[in-house]
Amino acid sequence: MSTEEKRELLKKLYFKTDIETKIGQKPPYSESERFVTGEGSVDAKIMFIGEAPGQKESEQGRPFVGRSGMLLRTLLKELEFNPADCFITNIVKWRPPQNRTPTPQEIIYCYHTYLKEEIDIIKPLIICTLGASSLKSICPMAPNITTARGKQIVYENCILLPTIHPAYALYNPAEKETLRKDLKTVKELAQDLQNIAKST
Ligand code: URA
Repeated sequence: MSTEEKRELLKKLYFKTDIETKIGQKPPYSESERFVTGEGSVDAKIMFIGEAPGQKESEQGRPFVGRSGMLLRTLLKELEFNPADCFITNIVKWRPPQNRTPTPQEIIYCYHTYLKEEIDIIKPLIICTLGASSLKSICPMAPNITTARGKQIVYENCILLPTIHPAYALYNPAEKETLRKDLKTVKELAQDLQNIAKST
């Protein structure tokens, strides 16, 4: 699929929100919460998946632009991730009331309505889930986050590498190193997979 075709498909996927809002199928979030799309290169090799937008994300309509987003983006920069290799999104596309954890129903709705198709369009080599909800949404049988983080799991046509949520690292500064270490593993793995793809 060409880059242009991928962009068109993503646009259509996100646009269907308007139609669904009108026919009342979206989860019962406040009308003032904005739909937050994924962001980054449609040809990304790495897809980062968070849980749900917070206040800043809802205001700007962009994922990971609040405090935990700043931590994530700073670490990606420090580790010299190429922005052209990255796509950042969330399972749930609206901010839940009072920033509560999304319910299983909201996760299932957003997975089947958006996330599954986002993954199908981008076709990343690596998915890095950020936090427990994100891991469970795409891989319900995975061990819990404490056991699974930093480990590689074969997931459909790519490798899933779960890590902790950046918000957790903000509240537990010692965990910043855990997040950095896992992101470094993601970067190295992406390089290895690209080298293998080039040599075959
Ligand atoms: N936390 C998330 O999981 N996603 C965001 O976009 C921001 C904070």
